[in-house]
Amino acid sequence: MPAHQACLNIDELRQRARRFLPRGLFEYIDRGTEDESALRRLRDSFEQAELTPRVLVDCNGRHTGVTLFGRDRPLPFVIAPTAAAGLVRYDGEVLLARAARAAGIPFCVSTQSITSIEAIAESGAELWFQLYVWRDRSLTHALLDRVAACGVDTLILTVDTAVSPKREYNRHNGFNVPVTPSLRGALDVARRPAWAAGVLLRLLADGGWPGYAHYPPQFRTRITDAAAHDPIRLCDRVSWDDVAELRRRWAGRIILKGLLAPEDALRASEAGVEAIVVSNHGGRNLDSAPSPLTVLPRIMDAVGGRMTVLADSGVRRGSDAAKLLAAGAAAVLLGRAPLFGLAAGGQAGAEHALAILQDELDRSLALLGCRTVAELRGLSARYR
Ligand SMILES: Cc1cc2nc3c(=O)[nH]c(=O)nc-3n(C[C@H](O)[C@H](O)[C@H](O)COP(=O)(O)O)c2cc1C
Repeated sequence: MPAHQACLNIDELRQRARRFLPRGLFEYIDRGTEDESALRRLRDSFEQAELTPRVLVDCNGRHTGVTLFGRDRPLPFVIAPTAAAGLVRYDGEVLLARAARAAGIPFCVSTQSITSIEAIAESGAELWFQLYVWRDRSLTHALLDRVAACGVDTLILTVDTAVSPKREYNRHNGFNVPVTPSLRGALDVARRPAWAAGVLLRLLADGGWPGYAHYPPQFRTRITDAAAHDPIRLCDRVSWDDVAELRRRWAGRIILKGLLAPEDALRASEAGVEAIVVSNHGGRNLDSAPSPLTVLPRIMDAVGGRMTVLADSGVRRGSDAAKLLAAGAAAVLLGRAPLFGLAAGGQAGAEHALAILQDELDRSLALLGCRTVAELRGLSARYR
């Protein structure tokens, strides 16, 4: 039996991921920002939330399916965009896309992925694309043309990353951007021979240190190069004007990711986007950000009837997902959970992570007396 199959929950997959990945890379995935208060707040919010079960409900024949954007899906999950998933396993983004396809859910490709959207599209998965607006808007628009040419119709615009967050542990362990080769980093890699042979050496054999596949050729830096060229840096001047411009250019669906204020949700619905993701970026950006679970009820009051509301951040149990769904989310994005699975066992490991969460969600439904995800919304709940 492959080792990841012995993992019974996401935390056990996380432990396996920790043993497979160099410390710098593991911490880049696992940890938060600054004092990691947002990360703790996420855990607290799920632990303190209560859902009161209804009993003596015949919940035989229940299912975890939802209809999202007009399509029936067996699970209320989407694999979230995560930068550099192609460093976790060789071809990591393609493996995640295949796992999503096997589970019947979408995979959202990050602007900062190692593999290009064109190559990932060969997986046959339903792909969404996550956009960081670059300083040079003409380059952003050229990237959008590439994405549309791959048949992608759903664009996630991430709106919570005006600048790079301060992650001091990355600086200390060398897994910063750029990755700075050091003795400490070399020893870190040497302690993880399976990763070094199975991922790093294969990437190097492909043509040297990997880079970000969506950067325009003239600015395509490798992960070890000095910071990104100015035209493709994160832009602190992204505003509602960019959303309006995107609305004019992008014929498909637009989702804004990273909103936490009801006022912003309202503004998003007025800007004509189809959906939002209530998210604090997995506790990785603003350390004082609230947990999505605690703000979701107010956001639903503000825009619930007008647009689709998705949520993410901190989901490690099916019951965590159940709480976000009960609070109004139409579906939940998963960042680290499938990444831990990917590290632990490649595509099969990522599928295992999704299966664990589906099983836990199914048990939550039964124990709460719900036959469907939609019925979760009728439960009495308390979010502190
Ligand atoms: C390693 C890593 C890289 C990420 N990269 C991106 C990214 O490139 N773009 C983006 O919008 N969000 C990114 N995120 C945030 C995720 O899309 C998602 O919001 C978050 O991971 C959800 O929290 P969770 O990991 O607790 O599920 C990243 C998250 C992780 C863990």
